[in-house]
Parts: sequence; C-alpha cells; structure tokens
Amino acid sequence: MTTTTTGTTPAKSSHGAAHTRVEGLEKVTGAARYAGDIPFAELAHGWLVLSTVARGRVVSVETGPVLEMPGVLEVLHHGNAPHVNTDYVGLLGPPDPTVAVFQNDRVPHRGWPVALVVAETSEQAREAAEALVVQYEEEPHDIAFAAGRPDAYAHDGMGSAVEEKGDLEAELASSAVVVDEEYTTPEEHHNPMEPHAAAARWEGGRLEIVDSNQGSTWIVNELAQLFSLDPSSVRVVSEHVGGAFGSKGVRAHQVAAVMAATVLQRPVRVVLTRRQMFSLIGYRSPTAQRIKLGADADGRLRALQHDSLSLTSTVHEFVEGCAAVGRVMYDADAHHTANRIVRLDVPSPTFMRAPGEAPGSFAIESALDELAEKCGIDPIALRARNDPQTGPVSGLPFSSRRVMACFEEGARRFGWEGRDPRPAVRREGRLLVGTGTAAASFPARAVPSTGAVTAEADGTFTVRITAADIGTGARTALTLVAAEELGVAPEQVHVRIGDSDFGQAMIAGGSMGTRSWAWAVTSAARDLREQLALGGSIPPEGITARSDTAEAIGALAETERHSFGAQFAEVAVDTATGEVRVRRMLGIFAAGRIVNPLTARSQFVGGMTWGISMALHEEAFRDQASGANVGADFAGYHVSANADVPHIEADWVDDPEPDDPVGIKGIGEIGIVGAAAAIANAVWHATGVRHRDLPIRPDRVL
Ligand code: MOS
Repeated sequence: MTTTTTGTTPAKSSHGAAHTRVEGLEKVTGAARYAGDIPFAELAHGWLVLSTVARGRVVSVETGPVLEMPGVLEVLHHGNAPHVNTDYVGLLGPPDPTVAVFQNDRVPHRGWPVALVVAETSEQAREAAEALVVQYEEEPHDIAFAAGRPDAYAHDGMGSAVEEKGDLEAELASSAVVVDEEYTTPEEHHNPMEPHAAAARWEGGRLEIVDSNQGSTWIVNELAQLFSLDPSSVRVVSEHVGGAFGSKGVRAHQVAAVMAATVLQRPVRVVLTRRQMFSLIGYRSPTAQRIKLGADADGRLRALQHDSLSLTSTVHEFVEGCAAVGRVMYDADAHHTANRIVRLDVPSPTFMRAPGEAPGSFAIESALDELAEKCGIDPIALRARNDPQTGPVSGLPFSSRRVMACFEEGARRFGWEGRDPRPAVRREGRLLVGTGTAAASFPARAVPSTGAVTAEADGTFTVRITAADIGTGARTALTLVAAEELGVAPEQVHVRIGDSDFGQAMIAGGSMGTRSWAWAVTSAARDLREQLALGGSIPPEGITARSDTAEAIGALAETERHSFGAQFAEVAVDTATGEVRVRRMLGIFAAGRIVNPLTARSQFVGGMTWGISMALHEEAFRDQASGANVGADFAGYHVSANADVPHIEADWVDDPEPDDPVGIKGIGEIGIVGAAAAIANAVWHATGVRHRDLPIRPDRVL
C-alpha cells in the first residue's frame, strides 16, 4: 500500500502522481460552460409536453390557441413531426422507442413526450407548453411490480439470463445450513446535478448538437440512424458534463431538438426539468431478489441460487442484471442464477451506476452475512472460505483477484479484529452501534477506441479523443497518461475531449471509459514518441500520431477481468426515532492501476456516498392510480446530503491489470457495489434485526 504522491515519473505498478483537475479552475470560476449555457444567434427554445395518462392514445393536440401565444413558433406532435427510423441496432442494442418521439399516437407510460412547443424564449415555450390541451383516450394501466408475477420472463442483459451448474435441490438438501430469503430494492433515479440539455442546428449542411452526454460519437451514431443521415454529416460536442451515471445517452430531448431545428431551420435547444427527468432519462428498476444459500457447517457453499426480478417498459427490454454478481464472486457445487423481467406501463429503466451489481450485491452480500451468522463464523472468514480460484461459472482464470487482500487491509485499518459478533449488545444511551462488511466487484473491460496525439511546434502536445468527462476526472487522467508515455510534464499536454469529430471512441460507461481511452492515448503517444526520436523539426501544423485499439483489444485472451473491493461501515441506530446514522465507512479496492489518486479517491468516495443513499434514503414512489412518480424532485426524492455523510475513507491495494498497457481496470462503478450491504449488515449487528428491503427507513427500523 502506497499512498504518497510525489514525483513525476511514478512506477507503473502502483499509481501516478496526484493532480488537481486540469479544468478545475474553469469549473469553479464559472468559465466552464455547459450545454444549457452556450449561446447561439437565433436560438429558439423547445419545451416538452408529457402525457398525463399512464396508458392510452392521444386523440387530439389542440395547437391552435397555443400557436397564437407570444413568441410561439411551432408545436410538434405525432401528427406533424418528421419520421425517424428505429430499425437498427446501436451500441447498446435496439433503440429504446422512448427516444423516437412523436411517431404515433400511443402513450405507453405516464410522462411520455406527446408534443414539443418551440418559442423565442424558454419562458414563452414553457408557458405555452403548460397551456397546451391534449386529449387522450385512456386505457387501464398496470404498474404493479411484485415478486411472483406470472408474466415475468428470463432475458439477457449485460450477461446471460440464466446460468445453471449442478443439482441445486440435492445440494440444498445436503447442506447443514440454509439461508433462503427475499431482498428488495426500490426504484431509484440518477439525478445528476446538471439536467439533460441539447441544442441542435444545421450549419453548412451538417447537423451540430451541443449536448451533455457520456459519448459524443455514440450520440452521433444514434442520431444518424434515427434521422437516416451519414454519420459524417453529424457532429456532437459535449465539453463539460455535470454528472450522468448512465442516464446521458440518446434521449427524447436531443431527438426533439433535431426535429425542431430541421423544421424551423434555426437552432433549437431543449432542456429538461428535474421533474421531467424522472420519466425521460431512465432510472434503476426496483428489484425483488430471492437468494438461497446452502453450506456445510464450516460455511463452505454447496448451493447458490440468485433469482432476480426487475421491470421494464412495454416498449423496450432492459434488464437490471442483479444475478450476475454471484457468477463472479462465489463458487458452489450447484450454482443457479437468473435475471427476469416483467413488462409494465412505466418508463424504460436503464443503466444506473453499477447496473446489476449495485442491487445484486445488496442481496448476495446481505445473504452471506446471514450465512456467517448462522454458521457462527466471521463474515470475512466466510468470504475467504468461498473465494474461488477461477470463475465459478466460466471456469476461466482471473486476470487478478485481490478480494482477500482488500479485506485484510480493510480489516486492519477499520479495526475489525476482536469484533464481538453478537448483535444488539453495544449501547450508547438510546443508540445501538454496530459494524458490517461486504465485498464488491465490477467487470473490467475495454472497448476499441481511436485517438490522436500531436506534437505542436511550440513544444506542447495536444491529445484529441472523443472521451467524456462526466465529472470523473477522465480529462485529467488522460493528461497524466499521455504525459507519462511522452515523458513530459502534464502541463505540456492539452487534452481535448467531447467532440465527435475526433473519431470513434468508447463512452463514459461500464467503468470502461478511462481504460479504453487511455489505451488509445498511450498507444498514439508511444507512436509519436518513436517518430520524434527520429529527430527533425516540427512543422507548423505539428506531427500527429493516431491510434486504433481494435486489433489489440480483439486479441485479448478470454479471462475473468474484474475490479474488487471490501466495504466496511459503522452505524448508530437511534432506538427512539428509528434513524440510522452511518458513522464511518472504509472502502479498500483492488481496481487496477490508479492513474490519479486524487480524483480516484473522489470517485470511490462518491460511489460509497451513493451507497449510503441507496441504503438509507433513495426511493421513488409510483402512484398506482396515476402511474406518476410522486415527489419527483429533490424535496420528494432524498439523495444523501452533507449532513448524511460521515467520514469516508477509500484506498486501494496494488493491482495493475496485467493485460492493459497502462495497467488500468476501471473504477467508475465499484464504489457503490457492496456499500448498501455493508450498512445493512452493520444495522443488523447494531440491532439484531435484518433489513432485507431498502431503504432502511426509520419506520422500518421501529
Ligand atoms: Mo454507467 S451506469 O455504465 O454510466
């Protein structure tokens, strides 16, 4: 463990030197402009009108009166909007028809876009949108998510739907100890600080979109398909992004802005309100997860069953793949895992930080804690006993797997040794105090990307890559990666990102962004360094080296590649109010080479903070009668605020990815994984009561 951060040429085996964000000054002084801030001459403003029924069809959109209102330029709806093509397969599969706005009169969920009012000012557009009368023919809707729905079916997500190894019933029957419980997590929403915003305009025969997204070439490819355009005639820029977490892909507002800009032949911006985001940008499905663990008396697993149910909309299949986490974490003689979905009259869910792993780890890491209790062994010892040598389902070797190193380091620093395992015996006045732990994992993947590095005539270097910095510090990490490979100071390197004209690159998603981009950047930088070593002067236009990592990534051997971690939490539970307070948290991660310790720590701490939110606060309510989210704002949907967050420490053990040129694995999502389980396990240790339904609200504690 090394956490000192001095020197400019650190060893690749551990981590790089700490560096503040290269765009930090711009951000804190307000000089950094976001998609909703950037001015355009002749900019018109679009305001989406969302359905007020949960299912049915639009009978009429009464545009006449609204078109007479001040500043109103156009009202787009299914009767007059341009046609878009949805018959394609994009980066993440077939498009969610939710983004193909105004194509027919069907309303598949409450908050579905039914019209766009465009006006000279945002205020005029909003005023007119609120005045627009839309008549519906309403149909009965079904939004009742519950375990045991007969219409649930298995479906592939990021992993396969069903994996079965061994005879589950036989192994359960011969197990000395069995845990058989159901765990639930609620509907959760992304809520990035910066709402979604996009301005579209036609400029010299090209469509240009100023956006806030997780990957500008991704948005180009989707919009080009939707509008039947050549991708080279579409440019998307996204300089700064105020949070995303999976929600900032192609969404209704970009498509509506392009439609309006095309119809009006002038720039049009559409910005979503916080309330609109609850039905337009995706969210995390609620889950109902059944876990069965069967073990010998010493805790060795004989049987592991994880059945997960999540929901999707009637127009798109998205699976919250909770059951996949056990396929990596724990071996058992019989190992059965399945992801199922049920289709309801609700908006389509989508990727949200650690999709699958975040709720999946709550269930399985809680169940492991219950098994430890029943077997009378320490939760860390139980995990050591079941730490597999190869992929439990795949049989493949791990590129590296340092879970137990994380637990050892974490136990030492947290003060786990000598912990009294008995629940409900630590009292401080009306508080009950306890500690808990849980494991974390997330896949470590890389996706082919292109990048370019230019040696400028003035001695500086410019990196161009269509990366997205969604607040992670990716731009700074890439600066450090390029500087290291070029053998120059970070101050000599300028990284330009967020412009699709820089070429195809991976999105900021799946914890794959920085790894995929760093690979392309380091490979172009190495090539450039070799060219420069040949000598000669640099021409005014500079010397540019380009890279494409498709071949190198395609040649990777099939291996189980994952980041891992160990989470620790201490809670105090108020027996009078039912309030749970997290007192401290520690996360130790084995997550590849850490490029920038400063922003990496923030990334981990951010994930763990979200874990507190998930454990104790976040819960979206959908009203059965109207189909709408109730309290769809920061007042009704509480995310952990400063007062909720105690001292959080995050650190890491040495774990460079052997098959990555920089040693990166990826750290974007793992911070949230296992965090809620560690807190729930601590609540059990404090009170002796298991909480299998999140969030652990005061009314559930009392
Ligand atoms: Mo992440 S949920 O892959 O943006």
